[in-house]
Amino acid sequence: MTLATAPPAALPRVFDAGAPVALPDGRRVPVAALNNAATTPPLAAVVDAVVAMLGEYGALHRGSGPRARATVDAVEEATASIERFLGQPEANTLLFTTNTSAAINHLARLLDLGPDDVVVTSEIEHTSNNLPWRHQSAAQVVEARADDAGALDLGHLAEVLHAWRGRVRIVAVTGASNLTGYRPDLATLASLAHDAGALLFVDAAQLAPHRRIDMAASGVDVLAFSAHKVYAPFGLGVLSLPRAVLDRHPVDPGGGSIDMLASDGSVLWAPPAERHQTGTWNATGIVALGAAAAAILDAGWDAIEAHERALTQVLVNRLAAVDGVHLTVDPARYGVEDRIGAVPFRVDGMHHALVASALEAEHGVEVRAGTICNHRLVRRWVGADDAEQARIEAAIAGGDRLASYGVVRASLGLQNTGADVDRLVAGLRSLAAEGPALRYRPAPAQECWVPGW
Ligand SMILES: Cc1ncc(COP(=O)(O)O)c(C=O)c1O
Repeated sequence: MTLATAPPAALPRVFDAGAPVALPDGRRVPVAALNNAATTPPLAAVVDAVVAMLGEYGALHRGSGPRARATVDAVEEATASIERFLGQPEANTLLFTTNTSAAINHLARLLDLGPDDVVVTSEIEHTSNNLPWRHQSAAQVVEARADDAGALDLGHLAEVLHAWRGRVRIVAVTGASNLTGYRPDLATLASLAHDAGALLFVDAAQLAPHRRIDMAASGVDVLAFSAHKVYAPFGLGVLSLPRAVLDRHPVDPGGGSIDMLASDGSVLWAPPAERHQTGTWNATGIVALGAAAAAILDAGWDAIEAHERALTQVLVNRLAAVDGVHLTVDPARYGVEDRIGAVPFRVDGMHHALVASALEAEHGVEVRAGTICNHRLVRRWVGADDAEQARIEAAIAGGDRLASYGVVRASLGLQNTGADVDRLVAGLRSLAAEGPALRYRPAPAQECWVPGW
């Protein structure tokens, strides 16, 4: 199969400063960026919008004058674009946070759940959609099971919802897995959650960059995602939730959250969006994400999804054909289940972090390695029994972060092409056949290997 070396012209264009990276042996090569599930590069339209804004911004909600007005208008326009991007229900409003993790923590605190309440989540969640429920709420957390390929067991989810009927307040599930690319059907989840009298929350950190979202049509009540995974800069998270949830005092009160301190010492709260977003908002980040959302909607999801689907299939098939490389998810599942391009694998006889370091240092290929915030599924794949787990935990507690089991993950973005896959496959072939060309020393505190002794 001949692979395109440039993404189709119809796709949004990624900003490219054009600077190749210097490898330790002195070669300068363009990066093959295959760690998009962690962070995507900005779109050119995002850079343009930010540059235009930085030239003329003023106070946001805290002053008058043409620049303040222009800033308020730009934030409102960007907010509307993000709402369209989500197909946000009429009853919802957006809150801006710093990232998805902060959004889920905020949500867990806002819901103010008690010990009789139950949060149903699942075994395939990123830690950011598990720990906040355990540590920011008094509710009992119950998890639905998944199979070895990281697909939710919907039968078990239904059983759990039935068993805890009347007590489940929210079903909190990922829209797409950062580890395996698995995507549950959101309409099915919504009907299961609603039948149990619960809200459906979707962690869309990985879904938002790769598939069309229509919260209203699929029945999603609450959703969160991060700008830095959707081709906009770091520092902005989005939480879309029903306004009814905000009809309470804020969990983070402060400047902007009240209209008046009454003479009796009580507080007249500001309208919900202001009340729950204390301090000055990240206006630049909102404008940047609004531009990313608009560029994606203008290009159209059909083109983006078709490009990524085709490339995901190429990626899994090519990786599966490399001797010594083992995909931990059957490649066929990607096509059959329409998974996004997040593909975990292992290389015979090599530590996962060494594979990632050698790909980067010798081939200019960026990937991610480790448990990738999905500890239990990775443990299942490596088959660590309790004794092995205890040994690893003791080593990590002693400072050896490389003692953990792990996998390597390649993850696609809309800017990737077959040339990026070629670079990854060539690098892996050489590593699997001959081992690393350079010498590396372990850096346990950084959980990686670095070239040189
Ligand atoms: C599925 C999922 N949820 C949550 C997060 C956390 O996102 P952030 O680091 O932006 O808070 C990530 C990050 O990789 C993710 O993949």
